[in-house]
Amino acid sequence: MKDYKLYKCQICGDPYLGDHPPINCPYCGAKQKYFVDGREYVSPFTQEHNFTEEEKANFQAALDIEIGNASFYKKAAEVSSEDYFKWLFKSLMKVESEHASIFAKHLKVNKPELVNVNASTDGEENVLESHRREEIAIENYRKFADAATTPRAKQVFTALVEIEEDHLSLED
Ligand SMILES: [Fe+2]
Ligand SMILES: [Fe+2]
Repeated sequence: MKDYKLYKCQICGDPYLGDHPPINCPYCGAKQKYFVDGREYVSPFTQEHNFTEEEKANFQAALDIEIGNASFYKKAAEVSSEDYFKWLFKSLMKVESEHASIFAKHLKVNKPELVNVNASTDGEENVLESHRREEIAIENYRKFADAATTPRAKQVFTALVEIEEDHLSLED
C-alpha cells in the first residue's frame, strides 16, 4: 500500500487516489502522462496564462461543441432502447460535460446548461451521430492546438484531440 497516493489530472484538475495514475482520467479521459503527484500539482485554472484573443475565441467555440455533444449524449442515454447504449452514452455525456467545465473555467464563465438535442431510440444510429460529432470536435481542436501559442491552450487542445480520438475507436 506504500504507493497508494493522491494524483491530480493536469487537464481537468480532478483528484485520483490509487497505486498508480489511471491509464485514462476517469473524469475527462486524459491519458496517464497528464497525471502528476498531488503534492506537485499547480492548478492551471488559477495560474495567469494571458490567453490570446484567438485562444479565448477557440475556448468559446470548444465550449459550444462540448455542450452540444454532452446534450446529445444525455438525450441518447435517455432514449436509446438498449441498456448497453444507455451506459455508453451516459459515460460519454459525463466526459464531454467535464470538457465543457475545463473550457468554462478558462473562460471564467459558468458552465452553460445542457440544451435539448434530438437522439434516436436506436443505439447504433446514435453511434453514427456520435462519430460525426467527435470528428467535428477533433478537426476543430487540431486547428485550435496548431494555432495556440500559450502552452496551456496547446496542452488542453492536444489532450482533447487524443481523448476524442479514443472515443472514435471505442465506438468502432
Ligand atoms: Fe482529467
Ligand atoms: Fe469532448
